[in-house]
Amino acid sequence: MSGNSELLYRAMENIVRNAITYTREGTTVELALSCEQKESGCEAVVQVMDRGTGVPEDQIKAIFQPFYRLDYARQRATGGSGVGLAIADRAIRLHAGQLNAANRPGGGLVVEIRIPCKVVVPR
Ligand SMILES: Nc1ncnc2c1ncn2[C@@H]1O[C@H](COP(=O)(O)OP(=O)(O)OP(=O)(O)O)[C@@H](O)[C@H]1O
Ligand SMILES: [Mg+2]
Repeated sequence: MSGNSELLYRAMENIVRNAITYTREGTTVELALSCEQKESGCEAVVQVMDRGTGVPEDQIKAIFQPFYRLDYARQRATGGSGVGLAIADRAIRLHAGQLNAANRPGGGLVVEIRIPCKVVVPR
């Protein structure tokens, strides 16, 4: 695919940093990359999976809004400002893609990036 490597890098970096921040101590963050064949062509799929507390179902869309953070008091110490996922979401959408999150069976969150392989975005 052809895209803006700086924007894609920042999106990935934010998502992986979240996974490392929120996964339970001693657990592993996993990444998976695959390619799915769609009618419109190939779609790149990146999954970032952790073993943290996950996100309450009713807030799973809200975490993509700017400055949205779960449980402010508990997480103040972790120092984020709550913009990482909002920036990532915009970067992925600029590449005609989608960003989604889901709770995993067995605990933790999976954040999934999907980008069609043939998009062309100005550098
Ligand atoms: N992997 C995750 N597991 C559990 N909660 C998460 C995870 N990723 C994000 N969140 C929740 O979503 C909120 C928003 O995430 P986002 O990356 O936008 O902000 P942040 O990490 O708090 O700060 P910033 O990215 O700006 O440094 C987080 O504060 C956290 O509550
Ligand atoms: Mg973040």
